[in-house]
Amino acid sequence: MPDRDTQLAGDAPQSGRATHDGLPLCPSSALAERGLAFGFDVHLWGQQARAFALRYDGRIVAYMNRCAHVPVEMDWQAGDFLDHERRWIVCSIHGATYDPVHGHCVAGPCAHRRLMAIETSERDGQVYWYPTRDIRPAAASADPAHPTTGTSAPGPEHDPPAT
Ligand code: FES
Repeated sequence: MPDRDTQLAGDAPQSGRATHDGLPLCPSSALAERGLAFGFDVHLWGQQARAFALRYDGRIVAYMNRCAHVPVEMDWQAGDFLDHERRWIVCSIHGATYDPVHGHCVAGPCAHRRLMAIETSERDGQVYWYPTRDIRPAAASADPAHPTTGTSAPGPEHDPPAT
């Protein structure tokens, strides 16, 4: 029996196996069901990039904020990835539509590709994410205007957590 309850959005890791213990991401209370996502900074292949986590059908799913059509950030407003029915992740640029559970493209110009999934777990009221060889924690930033971890979503449910 595993010693932690990890969740990987999608059906297979796309960026190598997790290489670290989980890193605290945000309090569980920061992620409302099908609500705004919690955005966070990472290094993808050594480059600064954004990722996001959201709660969908009770599970935490996390992906790189990087469309499979063109590698740009997808949220049309900070932390807002879901469509009006709160069913699909939709890229704001050209409308690529992804299944939140697996990250697979279901419509639009993303063809048969999918979002890059990030492994997560949730325990004791805390969400964790698991770096991989390709997706690493962002270096600590001394610039308070550019924190390495924090929400991209406004509102009381998404205030930056204590880290
Ligand atoms: S960049 Fe996302 S659909 Fe084109």
